[in-house]
Amino acid sequence: MNQGYEQIGVAVTCRSFEEYVRMFDLQENELIGRLLDIAGGASSFTADAAAKGLDAYAADPRFVYDHEQLTNEAKQEIADSSAKLQRLSGKFDLSYYGSMANHRAGREASLQRFAAHYADASVRAERYLAGKLPNLPFADAQFDVVFCSHFLFLYEEQFDYAFHRHALFEMMRICKPGGCIRIYPVVTLQWKPYTYMEELLQAIRERGGSPGFFRSKLPFIPGSELGLFVNL
Ligand SMILES: C[S@@+](CC[C@H](N)C(=O)[O-])C[C@H]1O[C@@H](n2cnc3c(N)ncnc32)[C@H](O)[C@@H]1O
Repeated sequence: MNQGYEQIGVAVTCRSFEEYVRMFDLQENELIGRLLDIAGGASSFTADAAAKGLDAYAADPRFVYDHEQLTNEAKQEIADSSAKLQRLSGKFDLSYYGSMANHRAGREASLQRFAAHYADASVRAERYLAGKLPNLPFADAQFDVVFCSHFLFLYEEQFDYAFHRHALFEMMRICKPGGCIRIYPVVTLQWKPYTYMEELLQAIRERGGSPGFFRSKLPFIPGSELGLFVNL
């Protein structure tokens, strides 16, 4: 029998700044310069970062949507995913969230902060850029830290190795020398390690990046303790 989380298409979810800090095992002094959240969806990372005075941006193909369309879709996703997670609840590690109800409440609060930020047309034009891996609308060497949460590797069944290699090279292109890329998780929706990681690490090294793994501090997905970093 298949195990894992059933998903058709790519969902739009809304994790918070605090979840990002834990998920990517970040220290305050690592959040400096220009930060980019790729596949940001309805995450409040950019809004929360702005409230802390940080210079954060997000990119996602769904940023072509207006405020109402995107927030309605994200609200529906919270309802759908909560029902699916409830059915699988025994499988997830709740040591951080405490309960599935807390997990849902956190998502709802994060979506509200995202929605308030995204509603402001000038903020939206400056901070939320419509962009789709593997080709992003940024010049070379623009960002100090580039994140990607819950898109790469997770959707291995929908995006092949060539897509992933091209996506990593694109993230390396827009990251400044001395900058860093962080991606979490490195497992698929079936909770299996990404199949082509060894090939990908080799390709990253040949392209001049220094990849490695960090230990995430956001327990939840079964068997998903690690994330990938690439130092430029
Ligand atoms: C599961 S959500 C993750 C949202 C947010 N990062 C979080 O952790 O809550 C995945 C996001 O990937 C976006 N996405 C889909 N295809 C993409 C692509 N080719 N490049 C970048 N983002 C993409 C979706 O629109 C969606 O918002």
